[in-house]
Amino acid sequence: MLNWDEYNDDELAVAPAPAALEPTIPKAPPEKVEAEQAPAPKVTTEVASETANDPVSRAQQAIKDIDPTPGIEELEMGAARVSVDEKAMINCRADLNQLVPFKYDWAWQKYLDGCANHWMPQEVNMTADIALWKNPEGLSDDERQIVMRSLGYFSTADSLVANNLVLAVYRLITNPECRQYLLRQAFEEAIHTHAYQYCIESLGMDEGEIFNMYREVPSVANKAAWSIAHTQGISDPTFVTGTLEADQELLRNLIGFYAVTEGIFFYCGFTQILSMGRRNKMTGVAEQFQYILRDESMHLNFGIDVINQIKLENPHLWTEEFKAEVMQMVLEGTELEIAYARDTMPRGVLGMNASMMEEYLQFIANRRLAQLGLPEQYPGAQNPFPWMSEIMDLRKEKNFFETRVIEYQTGGALSWD
Ligand SMILES: [Fe+2]
Ligand SMILES: [Fe+2]
Repeated sequence: MLNWDEYNDDELAVAPAPAALEPTIPKAPPEKVEAEQAPAPKVTTEVASETANDPVSRAQQAIKDIDPTPGIEELEMGAARVSVDEKAMINCRADLNQLVPFKYDWAWQKYLDGCANHWMPQEVNMTADIALWKNPEGLSDDERQIVMRSLGYFSTADSLVANNLVLAVYRLITNPECRQYLLRQAFEEAIHTHAYQYCIESLGMDEGEIFNMYREVPSVANKAAWSIAHTQGISDPTFVTGTLEADQELLRNLIGFYAVTEGIFFYCGFTQILSMGRRNKMTGVAEQFQYILRDESMHLNFGIDVINQIKLENPHLWTEEFKAEVMQMVLEGTELEIAYARDTMPRGVLGMNASMMEEYLQFIANRRLAQLGLPEQYPGAQNPFPWMSEIMDLRKEKNFFETRVIEYQTGGALSWD
């Protein structure tokens, strides 16, 4: 473990010798030094810039040269004090650097909730998982396949989500409290990818095989390809919102990622792994998945709120034609996840089978459609796994494997004594 003393030693060890730097630092001409020491001759900026040859003088002169007025006027978002009425989810012209006053309290609250649920993968004990995984009698072939496929899909899926957030969505959501949550979510996605990597490494899996499933295993690759297709429209750096077509394209992306990728594609794998944990198998992996699922259900709820708020503020986007397209997206996502369930469960396993999972996914799809304000498409679909809802609702819980009591409230833990 590094400490600050070592850090300082490292700094000294790698710092170039002062002599090596000398030739690159031009010495100030003697007359300039005298001028600086003399009582303030009034010089114009242009003259000073020409004569300031040493780095410190150049920095001091550059600061004097700053004229904030044109820069602020050039800010796309304006520079005035922001009022709540000016704030908007997309195409907002108010200054995005001013977090308050809040307009969307729900977004800020979700940011606070996300922070309160902070966790790290290394906190989870993987010892029992390693022993079980390495024991040839530990798991059936079908159970092993489920662990491999889940890690194969999720190890790259969370990177797809993170990249979509950071490289595409973030700049287009023009509200600071939502952006605050997006930043929190982006870090959580990094933690999730870390968690999958930690599981893969702990279990000694073939990393190349796992991380390439999203390209090489059809039922995994089809889901990844569907998500990637929905980021392409807005990830072009020249993409801007402000037209009907462009704003609908942003909505397509948000629905494709929040409602389908995070809202449907995660559910078969999560259910399988959590069912394994309930049977006291791969409890460390299952515990990681439990925390990830808790984060993901918040991502989903945030995304649904963002989508519905954009609809509310821009009702012209929510045309009949567009609604039909969104419904089609949700149904495509459901079909892909059902295909994944069939591929990963050719036989009954862990007290479940592909047709139970199909009904569960139809139940989930109905829920997503209702959350988006669209009619349910699978009448009568029931939830065969009610325990999944209980897990998602857990907050500061004693975790259900009863391995330890966890309180993730970390605020106030720092002490300066
Ligand atoms: Fe995630
Ligand atoms: Fe997520």
